[in-house]
Amino acid sequence: MDKFVIRGGNPLVGTVRISGAKNSALPCMAAAILTEEEVILENIPQVRDIETERKLLVAMGAEVELGTGTADHRTRINFRTLSNPEAKYEIVKTMRATSLVLGPLVARAGMARVAMPGGCAIGGRPIDLHIKGLEKMGATIAQEHGYLEARASKLKGAHIVFDKITVTGTEDLLMAAVLADGETLMENCAREPEVTDLAALLTAMGAKIEGAGTSIIRVHGVTSLKGAHYRINPDRIEAGTFLVAGAITAGDLTVADCNPDHLGALIAKLTEAGASVEVLGSDSVRVLSNGKLKAADISTEEYPGFPTDMQAQYMALATQADGVSIVKENIFENRFMHVQELVRMGANIKVDGHTATVRGPAPLSAAAVMCSDLRASASLVLAALVADGESILDRVYHMDRGYERIEQKLESVGAQIRRMGNVFG
Ligand code: UD1
Repeated sequence: MDKFVIRGGNPLVGTVRISGAKNSALPCMAAAILTEEEVILENIPQVRDIETERKLLVAMGAEVELGTGTADHRTRINFRTLSNPEAKYEIVKTMRATSLVLGPLVARAGMARVAMPGGCAIGGRPIDLHIKGLEKMGATIAQEHGYLEARASKLKGAHIVFDKITVTGTEDLLMAAVLADGETLMENCAREPEVTDLAALLTAMGAKIEGAGTSIIRVHGVTSLKGAHYRINPDRIEAGTFLVAGAITAGDLTVADCNPDHLGALIAKLTEAGASVEVLGSDSVRVLSNGKLKAADISTEEYPGFPTDMQAQYMALATQADGVSIVKENIFENRFMHVQELVRMGANIKVDGHTATVRGPAPLSAAAVMCSDLRASASLVLAALVADGESILDRVYHMDRGYERIEQKLESVGAQIRRMGNVFG
């Protein structure tokens, strides 16, 4: 199992380029199920979750050519035949976003057999809202042997009101609705940029969608979709992680190839915390910090609020800020797995239910720590960048699920980081 060895203390200076958004790429790849023609996607990040999705689609009968090595990370997906509309547990257990194939499979093949996702490090994460929505569209759903089996000879348009805002739930039902008979009206939808990205691809494929990016989406079902060529948006969470890295290390970092419009809540918080953040044109943000950070509270919310996927990274920064920062996690239960590791490095953090109280600045000392999930890993990398001495991060495969060549990108702007296989044998 790979580990990262990180020596803290270097300010990050220079420019890093952001990859395509993993959370856009996953639903966009699933959207290829909806057509017999080729879908070409650019800017697909080279991360493990994408490789997992490739395996999933290939097992269903797709030809998938991942754009490893090509400059634009171009990926081709061809679902001429959909021989096996099934997502096996072996694949589902490693990536919960596999529930995204449920809607498109029923829409295209009239059936889907998808393993129920198991428990997860960051809370229960049910998929009941995906199921309810598909039932409203006329699907019958049975559950046996750990699998969901959904069937509908033809999905019908429906009025769906989400009880709770769900990102992949909105995406899954959007993909079901585009080929349904008649109109679907979805209310209380997620407004995340990844939903808008997916809707733009589906529109390029011939779907009729209004309101993506707002909480009400209206879809006029069409009888078939065609292939398309589409470029995925930049990853706002990777961009945000680097902005925090610049601020926490007292650096001067330009985050390029990003979309500053998607980073509003984080930029506002970093500014409140005392970093200087400047938007440079339409695709770059520069963060400059003298290392004197002030406490600022965050409360995670659905987009455009402060993203839950940036909570762990922000907490690393809060440990270095002067004063008391209150960090509230409202989206997921049990998303404070990074806290105990940060505390082992010297952070002063107390957790009470969904709220963490961070007292800073606390000098961090390097330690051997364990990554528990994707964003928790990022939080530990950030802490290690300012810790005194050499930290060893175990289980970086969590990090590899969602960050492309993170150690190379960090090294290129001055971090002392190296990847080691089997440091402890
Ligand atoms: C997506 C993102 C993830 C991010 C999250 C919240 C992808 C692949 N992943 O996850 O990185 O952290 O949005 O921004 O895009 N819920 C239900 N029933 C459902 C579905 C969700 O109760 O059927 C609950 C969840 O338990 C959670 C909340 O709704 O409390 C939001 O979850 P959701 O938006 O669905 O997260 P994901 O789409 O899984």
